Amino acid sequence: MKNIVILISGRGSNMEAIVNACQREGWPARIAAVISNKASASGLQFAAAQGIATAVVDHKAFDSREAFDAELARVIDGYQPDVVVLAGFMRILTEGFVRHYEGRLLNIHPSLLPAFPGLHTHQRAIEAGCKLAGATVHFVTPELDHGPIVLQAAVPVLADDTEDSLSARVLTHEHVIYPQAVRWLVEDLLSVNDGVVRHRQGATQVRWGG
Ligand code: GAR
Repeated sequence: MKNIVILISGRGSNMEAIVNACQREGWPARIAAVISNKASASGLQFAAAQGIATAVVDHKAFDSREAFDAELARVIDGYQPDVVVLAGFMRILTEGFVRHYEGRLLNIHPSLLPAFPGLHTHQRAIEAGCKLAGATVHFVTPELDHGPIVLQAAVPVLADDTEDSLSARVLTHEHVIYPQAVRWLVEDLLSVNDGVVRHRQGATQVRWGG
């Protein structure tokens, strides 16, 4: 049984989707803990109600990124994680932290990377006149919102889309591709060569959404 630790900063809807899929599909894994950098993260309540261990490591209590990341890693490692999942975890991580979890640290980003790293992805996609938008699950590397791509979901950008309507459309697909990617990692179905991720059995790594 593998241990999954999920990091959140807020709502935690992706975390919820992963918890539910793990339970429903009987993954050979358990959600060992949900950890937040904010005590107010509403996702913590869902996790606790599921009987999952929760913890808060408040970034404001530390005077450097290094000190925060060191404490965060100490708490995470207490759960002996095989997979660490960033699910709306809105902190920039230090290189040392990322290297410590290399190959077992996943992130979801609400754009078709490598387009639009950073914040306000949907607004930027609309302003750029993009006809496709989406989300990317990737292995985390020290460069922000980069790293080997595991799975992408693409959706159309509609003429009357707002940031809210586009983000809602993308989010429904995040809730499908993120559990899928975590399951693949748990089941050791991913290989990475020269920065390119392949599914060992050739499963499709793209989801087309309406
Ligand atoms: C999601 O849309 C996720 O892709 C995004 O934050 C949202 C979290 O929602 N992540 C990032 O922007 C990371 N750069 P959730 O808390 O409901 O899962």
